[in-house]
Amino acid sequence: MTVPWDTTSPGPGPLISPSILSADFARLGEEVRAIDAAGADWIHVDVMDGHFVPNITIGPAVVKALRPHTTKPFDVHLMISPVDAYLEAFAAAGADILTVHPEAGPHIHRTVQAIKGLGKKAGIALNPGTPAKMLDYLIDDIDLVLVMSVNPGFGGQSFISSQLRKIEAIRRMIDKSGRHILIEVDGGVDQATASACVAAGADALVAGTATFRGGPDHYAANIAALKGLG
Ligand code: DX5
Ligand code: ZN
Repeated sequence: MTVPWDTTSPGPGPLISPSILSADFARLGEEVRAIDAAGADWIHVDVMDGHFVPNITIGPAVVKALRPHTTKPFDVHLMISPVDAYLEAFAAAGADILTVHPEAGPHIHRTVQAIKGLGKKAGIALNPGTPAKMLDYLIDDIDLVLVMSVNPGFGGQSFISSQLRKIEAIRRMIDKSGRHILIEVDGGVDQATASACVAAGADALVAGTATFRGGPDHYAANIAALKGLG
């Protein structure tokens, strides 16, 4: 697995993590191979439980089934509550980054420790209404902050631009900490909003609709456009 925490340069532009929520679920393995070949840096897996968020998607068995289809990091976004009981299963299935919402359990610090204990990168996802301040006492342990620029649950929603200020605030917090923590933005990211996210301090962008738009022949151009190279 190549992750930017361990390597020097991931190449020009932000890291792109296509959300397979917008892929053809009947051909998921093929879709993962196609976005890998098209230049995806990570594979974003949206896990939803119909309880923490109003939608149900996939579980560890699907992550495991997809693992042989790519060597790119699996960026697993857990929108489930409770979450602690499932961390081990997703780690064993092949997740590289496990991102959790502070609202998904009573002890977020313990959850982060559990992810680190499994040897995985730990991410914290902040909903649009959740303040950056939530990170104050987690900043020493986390590897990634996922700024939600839509309310979690569905692909294809519009970017909430107030989140740009939050990205800027988190950038300042991270720089002050001196730690190597990546900022990833998730929701409504397209070619137009991507550059605003990068300008605000984002390192990585999740893109479902904007990656898969037009079908496989367009994936490489879509990803290049999101990186600002199109
Ligand atoms: C929303 C998910 C996102 C979403 C992104 O709950 O976390 O990853 O699928 O989809 P787009 O890029 O279509 O907004
Ligand atoms: Zn997501």
